[in-house]
Amino acid sequence: MKRAFSAPVLIGALATLAAIGLVAIVVVQQLRANDAQNAQSAGLSVPEVKIGGPFSLVNHEGEAVTEADYNGQYKLIYFGYGFCPDVCPTDLQIVGNAMLELEDMNSEAASKTVPLFISVDPARDTPDMLKDYVANFHPRMVGLTGNKEEIAKAAKAYRVYYKLNEPDEDGNYLVDHSAFIYFMGPDGEYLTMFKHGEAPKKIAETVEKLIRG
Ligand code: NI
Repeated sequence: MKRAFSAPVLIGALATLAAIGLVAIVVVQQLRANDAQNAQSAGLSVPEVKIGGPFSLVNHEGEAVTEADYNGQYKLIYFGYGFCPDVCPTDLQIVGNAMLELEDMNSEAASKTVPLFISVDPARDTPDMLKDYVANFHPRMVGLTGNKEEIAKAAKAYRVYYKLNEPDEDGNYLVDHSAFIYFMGPDGEYLTMFKHGEAPKKIAETVEKLIRG
């Protein structure tokens, strides 16, 4: 997974990370404000967060899938892109390691959870490309791609921000994107989310606890 980067690419990547950091802070603040507001207006002690929804995508085997194909399973969902130089590989490694932690715990939670990687760069992330890519992180990780409109719809449902930058002279481009790992329940319900760089062990423990109930 190692690649060599030129200085402009690295500077671009750092600027991207800074931008994502800002967006992440804003998103989290908004979510917190919404949680508090929702809980208050509904008189609930448990905040309700509207994250997730229907999608119609293509898996890394080239098969059309919807959210219903993953009903009955818990899901760790991450949005990103296969050419991402740093953020995505880091977080997907974390998701893969969290899955390994769950397996080490001998927890049923491991087999009940499927890690999904949803591309926000469908022009480059073909099913074939994703198949090789996700295999780097966990044998059961599923790569999902689709057309631009469906990707946009899925990202919107998960409150994912992303923006494709202008290509350089070689046609390469970076994609700014928010970097959260969403943990979703068997009926597609939002359970919790983990921020960029979260410890795999903490994710595994949280997931195990939530599944055990
Ligand atoms: Ni990325």
